[in-house]
Amino acid sequence: MKAPISIISGPSSQALAGRVARALGCHLADIDFSTFPDGERYLHISGAADIEYAVIIQSTSTDSDYISLLQTIDACDTANRVDVVIPYFGYARQDKRFKDGEAVSARALAGAINVDRVFTVNIHNQNVLSYFDAPATDLNAAPVIGEHIAAMELNRPMIVAPDEGAIDLVRSAADHLGVDFDYMEKTRLSGEDVLIKGKKMDVSGRDVVIMDDIISTGGTVVETTRVLDENGANRVFAACIHPVLVRNAVLRLFASGLEEIMATDTLDKSVSVISVAGLIAGAIKEKR
Ligand code: R5P
Repeated sequence: MKAPISIISGPSSQALAGRVARALGCHLADIDFSTFPDGERYLHISGAADIEYAVIIQSTSTDSDYISLLQTIDACDTANRVDVVIPYFGYARQDKRFKDGEAVSARALAGAINVDRVFTVNIHNQNVLSYFDAPATDLNAAPVIGEHIAAMELNRPMIVAPDEGAIDLVRSAADHLGVDFDYMEKTRLSGEDVLIKGKKMDVSGRDVVIMDDIISTGGTVVETTRVLDENGANRVFAACIHPVLVRNAVLRLFASGLEEIMATDTLDKSVSVISVAGLIAGAIKEKR
């Protein structure tokens, strides 16, 4: 008989973990998180000794989230099997040594995760999967976003990638929907600013969804919106897998004239209206 699954939520993925447990109809562990006066994190799982197969769900958008992930894995050390789902794996953009002397941060962080299996969702670069010791599977949430877009009754919709790196993601959603897609050319000027090369696009009078894996400062989407407006787009929406949304990104995005921001719940933000719980539950069932 297969061991019963317990879903263990880290502090950053509570809503998503609850939804996955609901989708699987399995046990959701009772966990307490707190912070000591000096800032150190504390974590306690009630009934940890009875857990046979732990599936930990924790996104790591902050260093503190990453510490909590390691603590959760450690607290599950009496389980027979421990899998982790890291819906958003921070530092994945530091996936290689761009110049001498740099840390390959994604490798450093992945290397410290000792479990039986790892799942990520649209990790920024697939190369990062090889940095985990355990077998790692990246799940594609683009079709889930595609389904959400399909239900929106858009006028002659088109999906646009803000750079070549997002083409596969956009193609995956567009193919699922049977709608047109295109892409822009982006040059990054600084951490916050990008240049999107003006380009003739068949968007006049159409509703356009800009789709990217991550929206962080919002700079990429703001610039893409400007170019789409210049090309006469009707309404412009933004969709992403991971709503990192630092500082005033949400304000910046709405101020650019965007109609709406839609994201998945790999990160729990106000715009996380599309759940990847079904996708994760399906993968856990398949690989158990
Ligand atoms: C970059 O390669 C990513 O795919 C995103 O385009 C980027 O992280 C978005 O960042 P921002 O919102 O700060 O422009």
